[in-house]
Amino acid sequence: MTFTDDAAATAEWVASYLGGVRDLPVLAQVEPGQIRAALPASPPEQGEPFQAVLADLDRVLLPGITHWNHPRFFAYFAISGSEPGILAELVAAALNVNAMLWRTSPAATELEEVAVDWLRQLLGLPDGLHGHIEDTASTSTLAALAAARQLRPGGAVLCSEHAHSSVDKAARLLGLPLEKVAVDAEFRLSPAALAGRLDGAAAVVATVGTTSTTSVDPVPEIAELCAEAGAWLHVDAAYAGSAAVCEEHRWALAGVERADSLVVNPHKWLLTPVDCSVLYTSRPDVLRDAFSLVPEYLRTGDEDVTNLMDYGPALGRRFRALKLWAVLRCYGRAGLQAVIREHVRLAHLFAGWLEAEPGWEIVAPYPFSVVCFRRRGSDEENETLLERVNATGEVFLSHTRLDGRYVLRLAVGNLRTSEGDVRRAWELLQSL
Ligand SMILES: Cc1ncc(COP(=O)(O)O)c(C=O)c1O
Repeated sequence: MTFTDDAAATAEWVASYLGGVRDLPVLAQVEPGQIRAALPASPPEQGEPFQAVLADLDRVLLPGITHWNHPRFFAYFAISGSEPGILAELVAAALNVNAMLWRTSPAATELEEVAVDWLRQLLGLPDGLHGHIEDTASTSTLAALAAARQLRPGGAVLCSEHAHSSVDKAARLLGLPLEKVAVDAEFRLSPAALAGRLDGAAAVVATVGTTSTTSVDPVPEIAELCAEAGAWLHVDAAYAGSAAVCEEHRWALAGVERADSLVVNPHKWLLTPVDCSVLYTSRPDVLRDAFSLVPEYLRTGDEDVTNLMDYGPALGRRFRALKLWAVLRCYGRAGLQAVIREHVRLAHLFAGWLEAEPGWEIVAPYPFSVVCFRRRGSDEENETLLERVNATGEVFLSHTRLDGRYVLRLAVGNLRTSEGDVRRAWELLQSL
């Protein structure tokens, strides 16, 4: 077989997977160790044809895949690997560039600058923000807080009780104390609870779209407090930032023009395959202070260029900009807006069904595409319901805990999710 034959067979496999994923169980129905046991314990002595890899994908691996690219994946934050993103990943692997320095691939560096600036414009963010791509929001937040630490070494990091655990992890790695701030009845950080606690603080992390309920912290008020105290303001908009491609959701980013840094994950709600997280900052000089470290072998003498290794913890950098650029080009503003609007419509439709049916309650506001709800009854009943629904393999939902109570979550975020898919989730919840 030639490379062309293998490539054609792989493209066919991908097309058939995307066409048929709807018929597979969303949540892998295997026992721990089952997949490992089905694979040889040692590598082959002689190389095998690539066809053997493809055959084992179907035979061994697919049963152990939880299908994040399934239209009935409603857990966590549902995501999509869209076709332009998938194809761009293939090309990026073929090019196999490492964009650590401008010189090590000028096009990768400059395309990254262009793609993150296009995204900035699509989200209505201020001119002049510096942006670069990291793998995940965890790394972006770590980088932002490392910059904050440059200015206030040892100062505390403050965030709401509903901030993502990546903030806790970043503070732990950086050796900074972490303080949690109370939220209001709608799970938003309370500025009153923050006021008076910022003396000597290194940073505040505000969340736009919290992981449990997608609540939006009051960034304008938080920015005011940070400015008074001289603390770095980092905004975690990993999920909900993408909604700002639609004007009607721009309210959620109010005040971010005063933030020192902001993270948005195109791999969450912007059709880009995992991994792709964009970190914007109005203070790239501080980020560079935190991360620039140039050993002799990486000195180039190039002037007026960006060396992306200077902005984050990793030296080596995949060509992630290619897939982001491909997605932005192939969907365009209108295409992205249509997808976001449809997801929000579907989530709100589901919420309407819940509201109309006695015995169910919605337990948090639902500004975007996630609904938090529960059956009126005990935590155990809700937990059992979720287990039963997920055991069907037809849908996959996840849970959280709010005010101590067990809560179910339905998150719409896959490109191929239809009204029928959401309706099926509702039917299963009711019948089980
Ligand atoms: C609000 C928020 N921030 C950060 C993260 C971490 O994202 P990543 O997996 O890209 O590190 C998540 C994950 O779901 C999240 O919901």
